[in-house]
Amino acid sequence: MQIVKNYREDAALRASFNALAEATFDGLNFETWFQNGHWTDSYRPYSVVEEGRVIANVSVNDTPMRVNGKTYRLFQLGTVMTAPEYRNRGLSRLLMQEIEKDFGPAADGFYLFGHTGVLNFYPKFGFAALGGETVYSRPLPAADTAADWVQVPMNTPENHAKLWAAMQSNRFCGGFDMVNNPGLVMFYAGQFLTDCVWYSRAMDAWVIAEPDEAILNLQAVFSPDPILALDQVTAALGGLCPGCTTLTLGFTPADPAGWTPDLVAEPDTTLMAKGRFFEQGGFDPACHRLPALAHA
Ligand SMILES: CC(C)(COP(=O)(O)OP(=O)(O)OC[C@H]1O[C@@H](n2cnc3c(N)ncnc32)[C@H](O)[C@@H]1OP(=O)(O)O)[C@@H](O)C(=O)NCCC(=O)NCCS
Repeated sequence: MQIVKNYREDAALRASFNALAEATFDGLNFETWFQNGHWTDSYRPYSVVEEGRVIANVSVNDTPMRVNGKTYRLFQLGTVMTAPEYRNRGLSRLLMQEIEKDFGPAADGFYLFGHTGVLNFYPKFGFAALGGETVYSRPLPAADTAADWVQVPMNTPENHAKLWAAMQSNRFCGGFDMVNNPGLVMFYAGQFLTDCVWYSRAMDAWVIAEPDEAILNLQAVFSPDPILALDQVTAALGGLCPGCTTLTLGFTPADPAGWTPDLVAEPDTTLMAKGRFFEQGGFDPACHRLPALAHA
């Protein structure tokens, strides 16, 4: 039995990791993400391996967050799983200790989204619930006939590359933004939100906007223009979802004026955290939302 780290290029171990993830989390699988070339060093599995089989795992997502112009090293833990026959033998603890050893010194903080069924588990490693996140919404403006949004389907390597490049040259700012991790955004954009990516040449802006019944969720905005205002982008969004009446943000706006804040706690997951950034109030549930596309 040994700990093996960051082994994504090892096809056999990756298959074993995917098999455990599928069995544990209702079909969760990272293979398409890998084959698309979007799994990078920013997602590192830490696994206990026995005779070539992954029997336990905790993954470390490198999700630097920029708040008020400063970037913090925040690591998100995810894909926390131990094969049923190996549970309660201290394997998760072993992995948590190894991660603390490797990332603790550089980290401003660690966070995760804990499933309701295991909320007593994470406090054993120093995590505490943060008390929710704030989701901002406003009525969706009527369709702007002058808006020039073009859908960019995320079903070709060329279009993946365009969105990836847009993220790398992004200078649009929210109030709590993930930086330097396009691969994590592509986990969603390249698989589940393939019809939700739009580009406006007039604004040189990309949006990822996901309709959900009468709500249009604006998950992300990317633009090389540092003075592009969120109001300018949202004023032109109506045409993306004619049946929608409400616009919500999957991120924190830089300026909350004109937005209705709603402190929400998801019914099935709880945001938990530890480390100096969180202890010093760097994340304020009453005004911050971790980017929805940063959830791992
Ligand atoms: C939760 C899970 C990862 C724990 O893994 P594990 O390898 O059995 O954990 P460990 O044996 O290292 O246990 C570490 C500590 O947590 C405790 N613990 C283990 N499972 C727990 C649970 N479900 N709830 C609360 N505490 C738990 C152990 O008693 C131990 O406490 P101790 O060190 O004070 O004695 C495992 O049960 C699992 O895979 N569950 C299904 C997937 C899941 O829900 N993952 C979390 C998603 S957010």
